[in-house]
Amino acid sequence: MTQQLWTDVDRYLTDRLVPPDAALDSALRESADAGLPEINVAPNQGKLLYLFTLASRATRILEIGTLGGYSTIWLARALQPGGKLVTLEADARHARVAEANIARAGLADRVEVIVGPALESLPSLEARAEAPFDLTFIDADKVPTVEYFTWSLRLSHLGSVIVVDNVVRGGRVADPASDDPSVLGMRRFFEALADEARVMATAVQTVGSKGHDGFVFAVVTGEAN
Ligand code: SAH
Ligand code: DHB
Ligand code: MG
Repeated sequence: MTQQLWTDVDRYLTDRLVPPDAALDSALRESADAGLPEINVAPNQGKLLYLFTLASRATRILEIGTLGGYSTIWLARALQPGGKLVTLEADARHARVAEANIARAGLADRVEVIVGPALESLPSLEARAEAPFDLTFIDADKVPTVEYFTWSLRLSHLGSVIVVDNVVRGGRVADPASDDPSVLGMRRFFEALADEARVMATAVQTVGSKGHDGFVFAVVTGEAN
């Protein structure tokens, strides 16, 4: 009943504000055909990522957790001219599906998919000594979210935006008795975030076609390094 209502409202909103789009629609279709889990952001959430990116005028984006590249396409489309997105994916099969979807969206020239566990790719990204990222979207496995956040901070500058997906987990984040490792990962993340003087952050719960979850929105307001 409740999930049906959330799904119906998401359809109402998406029908009006998120028009069908050949590249995004085929990215979802190809991902499903390849058997990838349907844990991409919803279309209206993808558009929110796109608008966050536009508003922050990002030229460099870091994404942790690519899946089939659905959120990647939304983010990369909002890059300023000449911008670049780097996305990290542990599963080589997911990465292959994503690369095809990204190419079909005409974004292959500005998106780099790095295959491997993110905690191995992040140090190599730092070693490249390129410009910091203007916006980071953290959406991979949930247990090491604190580590991903700490790395994002290292790779940020004053004013950078960091968005973290799936921080509510059906409300279980607020249950101190939960022993779900993903929930414990998010609770550990919130403790660290509360103590992190270099960022200002909020969190918002969401309901919709993907259930009840939420995201953190953080801005780097202090020295990031
Ligand atoms: N951002 C995507 C969804 C990502 S789902 C979207 O909204 O469209 C999470 C992804 O993180 C999966 O593809 C999973 O394979 C990947 N992942 C899991 N553990 C990882 C790790 N340690 N390093 C990098 N990616 C990982
Ligand atoms: C899961 C991961 C996600 O990134 C998401 O948006 C929803 C679910 C998961 O691992 O269950
Ligand atoms: Mg997610």
